[in-house]
Amino acid sequence: MADPKKLFIKTYGCQMNVYDSERMAEAMGGAGYVETQSPDDADMILLNTCHIREKAAEKVYSELGRFRSLKDEKPDLKIGVAGCVAQAEGEEIMRRQPLVDMVVGPQSYHRLPQMEAKAREGKKALDTDFPLDDKFETLKNRPKAKRGPTAFLTVQEGCDKFCAFCVVPYTRGAEVSRPATRILDEARDLVERGVREITLLGQNVNAYHGEGPDGNDWSLARLVWALNDIDGLERIRFTTSHPNDMDDELIAAHGTCEKLMPYLHLPVQSGSDRILKRMNRKHTAEEYIRLIERIREARPDILMSGDFIVGFPEETEADFQATMDLIEEVKYGYAFSFKYSTRPGTPAAERAQLDEDVKSERLYRLQERITHHQRAIQDAMVGREVSVLFEKPGRLDGQMVGKSEYLHAVHVAESGLNPGDLARVRIIESGSNSLSGQVIGQGGS
Ligand code: SAH
Ligand code: SF4
Ligand code: F3S
Repeated sequence: MADPKKLFIKTYGCQMNVYDSERMAEAMGGAGYVETQSPDDADMILLNTCHIREKAAEKVYSELGRFRSLKDEKPDLKIGVAGCVAQAEGEEIMRRQPLVDMVVGPQSYHRLPQMEAKAREGKKALDTDFPLDDKFETLKNRPKAKRGPTAFLTVQEGCDKFCAFCVVPYTRGAEVSRPATRILDEARDLVERGVREITLLGQNVNAYHGEGPDGNDWSLARLVWALNDIDGLERIRFTTSHPNDMDDELIAAHGTCEKLMPYLHLPVQSGSDRILKRMNRKHTAEEYIRLIERIREARPDILMSGDFIVGFPEETEADFQATMDLIEEVKYGYAFSFKYSTRPGTPAAERAQLDEDVKSERLYRLQERITHHQRAIQDAMVGREVSVLFEKPGRLDGQMVGKSEYLHAVHVAESGLNPGDLARVRIIESGSNSLSGQVIGQGGS
């Protein structure tokens, strides 16, 4: 039998791209490909790209340039661009970089094997449709390979919110929720293959409203409760949520659903009502803060995380101060912050842009405060007992590393534990990016 062909996938952007890359590897597995960790011995290279900020999008072209010598050495090498840059720039990519054989948008991955066959005939293949057939359905015939303890599972895709700065509604299309039965089947399958923790993914995951087994529309809370009943699944998380879709049921689940972890990523972007309005976020800073209060009433120890954009068009120093005030009030355990990046085709791109220096200086100040809170929250874990799901060996001999329920990285010395084990751990030290602790008992969640 001939050696299998090798596929190298490089993934940029959000967790949904990580999930999609796994699906692409499975689709190409059906066409005789195995994954390789290096582009050098690959027969096919796929870049799964992100379009969210200018830098992310430009990276694709510099990365492609680096493959020129590989293609010179191996003319049979096929190069594909997938993901959100593929969706947004389509043919433009082939024009700008003739090395590219295939361009495939996020809704068309199930058609990759046919595209590869076309590329093998020496033709260029482009597919950026939003097809009616369900890409998840055609992708589900996966091999039953063993998995690590944690996995992503896409439940909802696309966005109808149209925040003024954001490309996602254009690159991922309209909101679509997968039927609950398919999600539950996929979750059971993951658990059979060793998964203990599932993170449900969606661009607006809490807007989930898929068809339930009873024929009614299920909310995300219903889905989480159904997942809670799966034996062997120990932890449930979901991301990313929009504040306006946090309904009462979901807030309550944070207090009562034992497998739902006390961590919530709830981006707000800005603390200024004037800017929130211009961003088309459709809520005020006060409403967001009240919402977090209600979530904390349901689950007092929940760790909050968020996203921020600084330097949105027309943001004044006073607007920025309002964001800093909101940060002081909420005290995030994690946060992702970005300088506003102008995205062609979005409404905010048409408005007066701020100086790069002003953006950089605000980002610096904001990150300084965020880091301060993050540090304080992490340090306050010392002395506490947490549950840790172990994922892999650490750098030192015998060391194991995993995540606490609050998503802090925790390592323990010599413990006899294996990846996939859950244990109760007493935190003894807070390091720069992780905690260290001592195992005090097996089990937990
Ligand atoms: N659906 C999620 C976010 C998806 S994009 C939500 O509604 O929060 C992830 C993050 O990238 C956003 O939360 C935002 O902070 C950032 N982002 C999106 N567009 C951006 C832009 N044009 N410039 C800078 N940051 C941006
Ligand atoms: Fe983008 Fe806003 Fe949709 Fe999030 S909710 S994906 S920021 S448009
Ligand atoms: Fe990027 Fe697309 Fe995700 S633009 S953040 S890869 S949805």
